[in-house]
Amino acid sequence: MAFGGRFPMRFNRMPRSHLHTRAWALVRGVGFAVGLATLPAAWAEPSLPRPPGVAPGDPDRGRELVADRQRGLCLLCHSAPVGDARQQGNLAPPLAGVGGRLDEAELRLRIHDSRQVNPESLMPAYGVVDAAPRVAQAWRGKTIFSAQQIEDVVAWLVTLK
Ligand code: HEC
Repeated sequence: MAFGGRFPMRFNRMPRSHLHTRAWALVRGVGFAVGLATLPAAWAEPSLPRPPGVAPGDPDRGRELVADRQRGLCLLCHSAPVGDARQQGNLAPPLAGVGGRLDEAELRLRIHDSRQVNPESLMPAYGVVDAAPRVAQAWRGKTIFSAQQIEDVVAWLVTLK
């Protein structure tokens, strides 16, 4: 134990520059404050405001769109508190409770174009015209949902707390 006994003692006797310590504390303090101020921007979830000219959504129409197996197809991948749970997907996070995790603008962006949150996303971008060459003729030049339909879906999702 020769080493363990002597080493800390030598350290304690080392002369300290108080000025240096204070200046350093100040620099660290300022750095911490700047860091804190920029945190909200770094933490904020990506989101999208309601586009001008689009009316607030109707949650009942939104629920119908989510459950609709021709248009929304949400239940191919997600489960949601609507219809028969046995015929719902488990590829994606359950939509139950999603209104508690994400706010309206965050939900809107995910429906409009989830690739803006996750570039690898498997979820269709419901508000973007898909420029991919293999899009079926009927869908070329069109979005899957209109801006109003996105609004309706979002209006229902925010109720899922
Ligand atoms: C082809 C599969 C697929 C379809 C169809 C689909 N989604 Fe998704 N969705 C996903 C996946 C996968 C995620 C997980 C995040 C990611 O990878 O983008 C996701 C994420 C989400 C999220 C964020 C969930 C969270 O907890 O962060 C919401 C909200 C959402 N989807 C709603 C919908 C709605 C509403 C529809 C129908 C209009 C729909 N999705 C259709 C695959 C899909």
